[in-house]
This record gives sequence, structure tokens and C-alpha cells, in this order.
Amino acid sequence: MNIKIKKILNKKNKLKVICLTAYSKNVSAILDKHCDLILVGDSLGSVLYDYKSTKEVTLDIMINHSKSVRRGVKKSLMVVDMPYNTYRNPKEALKNSRLVMKKTKCDAVKLEGGKKIIPIVKTLVKNKIPVMGHLGILPQTEKKFTFKGKKLDERNRILKDAKLLEKAGIFSVALECIETKLAKKITQQLDIITVGIGSSVNCDGQVLVIDDLIGLSQSKFKFIKKYINMSQIINSAVKKYKSEVLKKQFPKAKHSFKN
Ligand code: KIV
Repeated sequence: MNIKIKKILNKKNKLKVICLTAYSKNVSAILDKHCDLILVGDSLGSVLYDYKSTKEVTLDIMINHSKSVRRGVKKSLMVVDMPYNTYRNPKEALKNSRLVMKKTKCDAVKLEGGKKIIPIVKTLVKNKIPVMGHLGILPQTEKKFTFKGKKLDERNRILKDAKLLEKAGIFSVALECIETKLAKKITQQLDIITVGIGSSVNCDGQVLVIDDLIGLSQSKFKFIKKYINMSQIINSAVKKYKSEVLKKQFPKAKHSFKN
């Protein structure tokens, strides 16, 4: 087993697992000092490209951003989201996941879904491709973006899916917007690591989209906490730069070349 995966699994019931998304090198190099897991999420579709849904994200986009992220990641486990329609059956999933692993040198891939993707997960794991699952809101196929686990049958299905995925060999599962008590139950009943986003403190770890955390995005979801207002910081820096250029205060002699 990948040593970084082993280290993360060892945190179960002891220490929280710290995860964030990254889409480029400069950011991943900062996050790497603090994170256990860095996810190149297909959320980059909405965050960077203003796509209406993650359905529009392609394999090439994921590979290119992941290559950049890889350059900043030294110690964290790097996971790459497999985009929509790139893992419709075991054969397609294996071909595309191998390509992603080879081109990006990531440690694992993440797939959305429950029972339906079990044969796919089994195939990847059998071929030594570590897999992270994703349950709850599934942005690639979701029709209703409300929290999951309101009704008993939904709660039972999600718990069953989590157990099936664990049995199929995933090492971790992202739980997106899952009801608090259900997140607790899943976390308690699985030996693998649950990583929550909008799924309460009851998960083994937490993940947020980095642009939301630093206040660079316009997202307003209930589960987001903005730790800094980066939009404001960039805005005032650029305002100062503009003013100095207009007043000929920048560049100074020390920024210029002379024979
Ligand atoms: O794409 C993404 O960023 C994700 C996280 C929200 C878990 O899947």
C-alpha cells in the first residue's frame, strides 16, 4: 500500500485528516505544508472556468491542472477527480485512470457514485490504482442540490453504498452535504477515512475548495467558511500598483537596468 495512504488511514479515530483542493502549483506548494491530502477537484470547472456544471470538465483539463499541482506537492497525498463520462464502464475507467496516473504522477483517483460504480472500483483497485469514493451530493450527475439523508430510505442507501465501496477497496470517501447523524454513522461503521464537505464535524477529515476558504470565489454555500478575503487583498494591491504607475512612482531605478 502507498505509504501516504497508510499514514492517512492511521489517523482514523486519532487525528483529523486535513484536505483541500488545489488547481495550480503556487497554491499547492502552500497547502502541501498543512494538508494530508490535496485534491485536484473537478470543482475547477465552476471555480476557474465558470462552467455551469462539472459535466463540462474534460480529461485534458484535469491532466493539465494536475501536472501543475504535482509540482507543488511534496508530502501530501495527491488525488485527482476523474471527470464526468470518463469512467462509464471498467474498461474505460481503467484506460483513463491509467492515463491520469501516468501523466500527472498522482497517488489516487476519485470517482463519484455508489453501487453502480462497484465493478469499476474493483477493476481499478485490482490494477493497483488507489481509489477515493464520493457520496452524498454527486455534482457530476446531481439533479437536486440539497443535503442528503433527509429520508430513511436515502440514509439506508447511502450507508449501504459506503459499505459496498469500502468492500470494493476504496481507501477513503468524500461525503458531500450528508446529514450530521448519518455522517457519524458512516464514519463509525467504516474503517476507511471519511472526508466531509458540508457533512458536519463527525467525519474523519474535512475538505474545502481552496478558493472558497480564501475568499476568492463568490460561492455562498452554508458549509463554507471564508478565512480571509483574498479578493479584497488583491484588489487593494492592484489599486496601489495602478496608482503608482500613473504617478510614475513605479518602477523605480532599483527595478530598472542601467549600463
Ligand atoms: O471537486 C471537488 O472539489 C470535490 C470536493 C468538493 C470534494 O469533489
